[in-house]
Parts: sequence; C-alpha cells; structure tokens
Amino acid sequence: MTIETKEDIEKLKIIGKIVADTLKLMMKEAKVGMSTRELDNIGAAYLDSFGAKSAPLLTYNFPGATCISINEEVAHGLPGERLLQDGDLINVDVSAELGGYFADTGGSFVLGKSTPDQKRVMKATREALNAAMEVARAGAKLNLIGKAVEKVARKHQLKVIENLGSHGVGRALHEEPGFIANYFDPEDQRVLHEGQVITIEPFLSTKTTWCEESNDGWTLLCEKGNLAAQYEHTMIITKHRPIIVTA
Ligand code: CO
Ligand code: CO
Repeated sequence: MTIETKEDIEKLKIIGKIVADTLKLMMKEAKVGMSTRELDNIGAAYLDSFGAKSAPLLTYNFPGATCISINEEVAHGLPGERLLQDGDLINVDVSAELGGYFADTGGSFVLGKSTPDQKRVMKATREALNAAMEVARAGAKLNLIGKAVEKVARKHQLKVIENLGSHGVGRALHEEPGFIANYFDPEDQRVLHEGQVITIEPFLSTKTTWCEESNDGWTLLCEKGNLAAQYEHTMIITKHRPIIVTA
C-alpha cells in the first residue's frame, strides 16, 4: 500500500507494535522441551487479546498463527509436535491484520548457548537488514535493497537464499511491489516511492542459496547442516530513513 492519510500511519503502527510484541514474547517464552505448537499458541493468544488475526492463517489458511522454523528449516515452518532443543537456531515470523492493516516481522535466535557459526549468521543478517534500510529511500531503485544485502553476505562469507525475498505489505500480507530480491537484480527497474509500505527481510545462510518445500506443504527446507537467519521489519518509505512500524 501507499500511505495516504495520518490514519494509515497510525493504524499501521498499531498492528506493527502488536506483531513486534508478539515476536518478543515468543522469543522470551521459548523453552527447551516445548513444542513449536505450544510456542505458536502463546503467539496466537497474544494476537487474539488485541483482536488481531494471523495473516498467514487469514491469507493462505496456514495451519498455525505464526511460522516457526528450526535449524535446517528456513521459513514458513509449520508449528507442530517438534520439540525445541538446546542450541536450536529458531526463526519466528509473525504477521497479522487488524482493522484492514497488515504488518509483518521476524527474527532468529538461539535457545541456550550459540555456536560461532550461529552467531556469525545472525549478526550478519541483522547487519544486512540495517544496510538495506539505509538505501531504501523514495526515488531509489528497489534493486539497491538486494545489492546491499548481498554485499554484507559476501563480507561475512555467507550466501543469500535467492527464492525468499521482501515484499509490499499494508492492506494485504503480500502485495505490490511483489518479490523484492535479496540479491542484486540489474533487470529490476522498479523505483521506491514516498509512502510505500514494504518489508525488508534478508535470509542469509552458511551453505545454500535455495530452499525447497517440505512434505508438509509449507515448511521451506535447506540441506541438513545449513544454518540460516532472517530478520524482518515492516516500514514506510520516505525521502530519509524508513519509518519502521515493527521496531
Ligand atoms: Co514475515
Ligand atoms: Co514477509
């Protein structure tokens, strides 16, 4: 969507804060031995307390409120019987709707003590998100986002997962502009404009550049032993730094 009124900004900030707080709560409550279903239920109850609706459930009939992806799972992880273990690299992605406005956020963390590789991929992915937000300005080419992400990945000897990207958001979970690559695509001539609402969500990984859908029809998997991280914010594009609504 493109922001037209003050009300648009306010409503977007309200749902932005709800998804950000849901993510924070789930990161705090995640415990060894808890199933991903139990962790999802915590997020679902929190969203529900504001009358917010899970966006993946609403949009795609996703069988869960949030996406929880562990280790070789990269994204769209289906909450279920899997038990959280010490040392798991966990990604939680929360997107929801309230009053016709949608916001989307995500983050990765390790349960317990993290390994140097886990630390490296998480730190670099956060750095990539910040670098991309630095270049996301009204009037700039959209492909500068991927260029910035790719540059940070290379600096840390990491890879970019090419079939996962950022996207337009606001009045729907996924809207115009569609797929925004996390790598530099010279063919992409689209330009960012003032008031445009997008996510930026780099996915960096230690081994693979591609993930495949698992048998459950939702979870996206990389090869075993691969580590990937994602951090995501929803933001409003301006002439200066974007206004992050999921901070
Ligand atoms: Co998301
Ligand atoms: Co997203």
